[in-house]
Amino acid sequence: SRTVTRDEHGVLTVGGIDVKRLAEEYGTPAYVLDEDDFRSRARAWRTAFGENADVFYAGKAFLSRAVVRWLNEEGLNLDVCSGGELATALSAGMPAERIAFHGNNKSVAEIRRAVEAGVGRIVLDSFQEIVRVAHIARELGTRQRVQIRVTVGVEAHTHEFIATAHEDQKFGIPLAGGQAAEAVRRALQLDSLEVIGIHSHIGSQIFDMSGFEVAAHRVVGLLKDIRDEHGVELPEIDLGGGLGIAYTSDDDPREPHEIAKALTEIVTRECEAAKLRTPRISVEPGRAIVGPTAFTLYEVGTVKPLDGLRTYVSVDGGMSDNIRTALYDAEYSVSLVSRSSDAEPMLTRVVGKHCESGDIVVKDAFLPGDLAPGDLIAVPATGAYCRSMASNYNHVLRPPVVAVKDGQARVIVRRETEEDLLRLDVG
Ligand code: LLP
Repeated sequence: SRTVTRDEHGVLTVGGIDVKRLAEEYGTPAYVLDEDDFRSRARAWRTAFGENADVFYAGKAFLSRAVVRWLNEEGLNLDVCSGGELATALSAGMPAERIAFHGNNKSVAEIRRAVEAGVGRIVLDSFQEIVRVAHIARELGTRQRVQIRVTVGVEAHTHEFIATAHEDQKFGIPLAGGQAAEAVRRALQLDSLEVIGIHSHIGSQIFDMSGFEVAAHRVVGLLKDIRDEHGVELPEIDLGGGLGIAYTSDDDPREPHEIAKALTEIVTRECEAAKLRTPRISVEPGRAIVGPTAFTLYEVGTVKPLDGLRTYVSVDGGMSDNIRTALYDAEYSVSLVSRSSDAEPMLTRVVGKHCESGDIVVKDAFLPGDLAPGDLIAVPATGAYCRSMASNYNHVLRPPVVAVKDGQARVIVRRETEEDLLRLDVG
């Protein structure tokens, strides 16, 4: 992140505070989040898309009340995908009309709560959900704004578990075989639904814009079919999130303004060709906003050289605070941040403290050969999908999120305690 520097002893400083102080005060492991960086990335997305488009931050990447307030202040909307995320958003004052509610199996209770709160849109994911939401809205005497999520049949170039536009997976209604058109037909017949548009999310950690182009092309094709059949031009399309960030120096992410320009051009061009009014575009970046803004600070516990292989460096967290390496083979980098070192680099694997050998944080990394217990190391770009996918595996306590800004640090999500753990254990 932008405010990261090193002092004369090689100690990493972020937001005006050095990591040794952070470790002393808040303990390790900890996620350290740079608030200015978060805000400026949020603002960059907002500015890039301008007044004719909406940016919905994808709360699944990382959500807390402080984050909701920052988003609110920076003029972003919010995408939630569970009752818990909705509750967090509402409790921190996000206006309901700026919330989009997602999910492939929202419960009746969640839907009722969202409709009652007055969320700006519910993204419908199945034929059953069309009827379910319509029924609940009718019961509550309201007309709910909805989008219909379609799968456009694109193979996004990303890990299989986070690709979502090919047809053989659980999200959305396929365009193929006229299923999406049929879904729109049914939704348009239900008085308690106001169909505002079509939604497509092709996957996550994507660098190649061509998937979005194909998606936009196919979604506009559907808008045209809807106009031809029903005489209505749906006013909005949402192209989802998924823009990749740099986890290592090999990744080369696009800037928000490039993405905004590309998406706007594609949609405008396609709509002109189809003689459609250009719909209002929305996007849902999660990772691209929060991912780069945080790093995980760990303390080294043991250093175990294995002759002819590599050195295993064990830290005080692991797969419970970052499951992404084990789950997606994700790549991270790591550096020594509590001092400088001139020692020869050694090949290491940074591992956690959990009881399984797949508990890897950084698979292959060079760290100084004099690395020792007590050193602090930092793994960058852990702002997205690390705290939000953290677990209590082995009854390890989930780390805090510490926000830094202008030389001040403040806990925005506190460290879990043994009391927290035991509170749920009522047997
Ligand atoms: N919109 C929808 C409908 C989504 O499903 C997602 C992510 C996003 C937006 C935000 O995508 P982003 O811009 O953050 O890539 N846990 C995985 C990522 C799963 C993403 C699920 N949906 C990971 O750690 O990489």
